[in-house]
This record gives sequence, C-alpha cells and structure tokens, in this order.
Amino acid sequence: MLKTKELEAFLEKAKEKIQKADSIEGLKKIYNFYLGKNGEITRLFSLLKDLPQDKKRELGVGLNALKRRLKELFEIKEKELKDKEVGLKLKKEKIDITIPGYRIEKGHLHPITMARREIEEIFRSMGFEVAEGPEVETEWYNFDALNIPKDHPARDAWDTFYLKNALLLRTHTSPVQIRYMERHQPPFRIIAPGRVFRHEATDASHEFDFWQVEGLVIDKTINAAHFKAIILEFLEHFFKKRVKIRLRPSYFPFTEPSFEVDLGCFVCQGKGCSTCKKTGWVELLGAGMVHPNVIKNSGLNPKFWQGFAFGVGLDRLAMMRYKIDDIRWFHSADLRFLKQF
Ligand code: FA5
Repeated sequence: MLKTKELEAFLEKAKEKIQKADSIEGLKKIYNFYLGKNGEITRLFSLLKDLPQDKKRELGVGLNALKRRLKELFEIKEKELKDKEVGLKLKKEKIDITIPGYRIEKGHLHPITMARREIEEIFRSMGFEVAEGPEVETEWYNFDALNIPKDHPARDAWDTFYLKNALLLRTHTSPVQIRYMERHQPPFRIIAPGRVFRHEATDASHEFDFWQVEGLVIDKTINAAHFKAIILEFLEHFFKKRVKIRLRPSYFPFTEPSFEVDLGCFVCQGKGCSTCKKTGWVELLGAGMVHPNVIKNSGLNPKFWQGFAFGVGLDRLAMMRYKIDDIRWFHSADLRFLKQF
C-alpha cells in the first residue's frame, strides 16, 4: 500500500521534472506521463480496488490531493513558459520606430484630365451644361447630319478610321451637337468634351487620338458677338491672364459663317517655336453660326432657333497652359514628363 511518505516522494519527483521543463511541448509530455488517460495517477487510482475499505478511503484522499497539487504545478509552469515565449517573441519582433518609413509614390491626374476638369468648371460657371456622346459613331451623326453629304469633298478634311457595320471613330465632337439637339428643347448652352480620332500623321501639334471640347449655344437671338465674348472670357479664365486671339474666316459645312480662332503662342511669346510651327499663333478652335440645315437635321426649326458652335482642341489648350512643346508627350507615358504636373 502507498503511504503518505511515498506519495510525498512521488510529488517531489514530479515537481522536479515539471520544474525542469523548458518548453510547452516538453511540459505536455510530462503532463501526459502523470495526468494523461493512462498516466501514473490513473495507475495509482487503479490500485485502490484491491484495498480494504478503510485504507481505500485514506489513500483515495491522499491521491486526490496529489492529483490537485500536480494540476496546480502544471498550471503554474505552463503560465511561466508561456510568458517566457511571449517575451522572447516580443524581443525578436521588436519594432524600431526610429527607422525611416518607405516613401509611397502618390499618383496624380494626367494634365489632360486636369485641363478638362478646369474647362468644365469655367463653362459651368457661365451656365453651361456638360454633355457626352459616343466615341464610336455612325456616318449620319459624324457627317451627314452635320451637312457633309457623302460625296462632298469636305469629308476628306477628316481622315477617318472606319470600322465594320458602317461605324467609325468620331473625327470630332460635333456629332454631340446633333445628339443633344435631338433630345432637348432650346434655349440651351452645352459643352461636350471628348476623345476624337483622325487617321493622320503626327507631329508636334497633331495627334491621331486627341481631345476636343465642343460648345453649342442655341437661343432666339444668339450671334457671333456672343461667341467672341464667351470664348474670350473662357480663355482668360483658363489661362488666368489677358490673351491675344485672332479670328480668321474659314469654312465648315455645319456653320455659316465659319471662322477659326488662333491664340498668340505662349510657349515662345509669339517669336516662333515648334508648338506654333514658327508662326507665333496656334490654331485653337473652329467655330461659326450653326448652319440652318444642321438645326433642321436635329428636328428643330431654324426659323425660330439660331446659335453658335465651336470645337476647341483640348490638348492644344493644355499645351499652352502648361507650356508643353510637343503634343506627343501626352501619350508618351513618360514619368519624367508626367511627374511635372
Ligand atoms: C473641327 O473638328 C470642327 N468640328 C470644329 C467646329 C465645331 C467648327 C463647331 C465649327 C463649329 P478642326 O478640324 O479644325 O474642326 O478641329 C478643331 C480643333 O481641334 C483645331 O482647331 C485644333 O485645336 C484641334 N485639332 C485638330 N486636329 C488636331 C490634331 N490632329 N491633333 C490635335 N488637335 C487637333
């Protein structure tokens, strides 16, 4: 029969083993040895059955006390080992807050987007609405409705990318005029910024994929003087200074009379550079009084309604504003260029 002394010796031995454990894993093994399903404590309890009743109770009490004590010892040791592990982990994973951080590169808007948003803002402040139209157009909207019939030589002025099914990439933003007039009752004033495409060779001031902003004002008594006042107001707001413009008589099938507006070149102050092709002037926009046929083609009555329209090169405006000497920089994806804005 196990005596109290023996139980104490048993406990001392177990204590020693528990104390020596230097990892949670190791401690678990010792725990299983003593308190596991087939461990030492279970074995000791199994001895009880062969003892007489009084001894059974005596030893039972002693064994239960031993079991409780063992459990306590394991819990204490487990906590100690866990604290040690966390301490070590913290030491290893220490964050040095004095190390300089990584610099996160910030993106920003493309100069074309910046210019477009500013243009929209200026025209909105003058009561204009911003309209949109599709980049893939039909011949009707891009040409016919704009008074450019099929075999008219004026069609050649727009070198067109034709697609399948009689569709094309719009060569200018003027089709938005028709689309807007079809659905709205005058009076109205709109601008329509958008991408346009022309099958032409590129140079410092020509792209084959560029931006225009269309303008359209229709009312009962709108005339060319209104156009000049509005465009000058816009340009001076956009460039934040007095600007020099000149109006040249021109021809567009969808306006009568038609004119082109040139802007005194800021890049070279009119002396002549690659942007202005050494002329001191940059061709900025085409404009005119909307042709009665165009108003009619949009379902309105030209006897009651008249107005002006213009189409301005957005890339050219941005070039002047940010002093960019070659339009091809916009599509270059060259970060040295883009990071300047
Ligand atoms: C037109 O596209 C007419 N739709 C403009 C218009 C609208 C006239 C309404 C009358 C009434 P034009 O082809 O001239 O016109 O182009 C207008 C402007 O777009 C030009 O003044 C120029 O600033 C710009 N532009 C034309 N071609 C290019 C190009 N290849 N690259 C960059 N900008 C261009």
